[in-house]
Amino acid sequence: MPEAIFHFPPDFLWGVATAAHQVEGYNQNNQWWEWEQRPGTIKRNHRSEAACDWWRNAEQDFNLAASLGLKSLRLSVEWSRIEPEPGQFDATALARYREMLSALRARNIIPMVTLHHFTDPLWFTQRGGWLAPDAIAHFTRFVEEVVTRLGDLVTLWCTINEPNVYAYMGYVAGIFPPGEHDLVKATAVLRTLLRAHAAAYRTLHRLQPEAQVGLAHNLRFFDPAHPGRLQDKLITRLLDSAYNESVLTPLASGFWRLPTGWGPAWGLRNTLDWIGINYYTRSEIAFDWHARETLFGREMPGPQAEPLDGGYGQLYPKGMARAVARIARRFRKPIYITENGIPDADDDQRPRALILHLHQLWRIMQENFPVRGYYHWTLVDNFEWAEGWTLRFGLVEMDPFTGERAMRPSANLYASIVRANAITPELIDAYTPELRSTLLP
Ligand code: FCB
Repeated sequence: MPEAIFHFPPDFLWGVATAAHQVEGYNQNNQWWEWEQRPGTIKRNHRSEAACDWWRNAEQDFNLAASLGLKSLRLSVEWSRIEPEPGQFDATALARYREMLSALRARNIIPMVTLHHFTDPLWFTQRGGWLAPDAIAHFTRFVEEVVTRLGDLVTLWCTINEPNVYAYMGYVAGIFPPGEHDLVKATAVLRTLLRAHAAAYRTLHRLQPEAQVGLAHNLRFFDPAHPGRLQDKLITRLLDSAYNESVLTPLASGFWRLPTGWGPAWGLRNTLDWIGINYYTRSEIAFDWHARETLFGREMPGPQAEPLDGGYGQLYPKGMARAVARIARRFRKPIYITENGIPDADDDQRPRALILHLHQLWRIMQENFPVRGYYHWTLVDNFEWAEGWTLRFGLVEMDPFTGERAMRPSANLYASIVRANAITPELIDAYTPELRSTLLP
């Protein structure tokens, strides 16, 4: 009997995602570098240091990406390198990005360029960051420079990575810089980031009419720990609204839906050519009076939940299909999975996670939702923000001290999926025979 093969569309963009600060190394000019120097901010006091050494030699990893057969690579440009002082653009930094983007294209890898991925120039932070009245004007000037200088090499743009994570981690949880606990400031930052996205969208299109512009939203599911309990249901609704709808509603409907207030959000509708989903995990939530910082919701994973490394959350591949369905119904725009992956140093869960998430993606794509590509987070182990080097998301393992790289089994699996443009029974048997009975009944 013929066995099912899960095929993807012929022009599907298989890629990996990265971010400048996590891979480039030794950039001392942004707020993250400064944050890392303070004891106690990063797990085990790790620092990004040389990171993956991309500023000197991204090409070695581009070679790896090419050897895996990848069609696209998502990377970000570092604002603080390109504009080290307000209004002064660094020709050498721009030349280096030209070199990197050309190197990707020479390898037939389409670059997707993120303009803001968590890092801000120190001068920008010192002037109040995203709370300053001229924040959007500064960002727009930077975007203008980037599209003018690099636009001949890029058409696929991601304006801002995860505005909700930037605002929540920096201004509510206090885990990212500036380490504050202030919901009012957090929502102000979020509002400005979304307006900056809209401004960037218009700037990109003015200067490059063929630009394909999107934003990457970190979509996390909140499900009630006890589905029958009203308090749990209410609190998950509240958390979903604060975390997800605070971004999705204004972009889709032009209406602010923030924990601090509602109202019209002028100029935000119709500012997406595509939408990016960064999907990682879900939270099962129980109501708890003491959990003030997380809006009275406490994580309570069910007995079935499979934990990920370092308390990162639970493995929940179904979330991939739920995410696509939710976003597609809402926006009716092309979708990219701009990030998905798990921390797994010994690669004992990743092959299964990869197959299960991609199978869920394939399944939902049978309903003709317009998913154009998938970017795995990430190619090579890199500096994982406040988690330092403790969480390893790479298809390729890297020793941060020596820079030595070694393919994990997942890298070969992903390369085979990309080559076949499908999940095949042979791959299931070779990497995850335990899934045969579920995926190929
Ligand atoms: C996402 C970030 C990315 C990386 C992954 C693991 O939230 O966008 O930079 O840290 O998580």
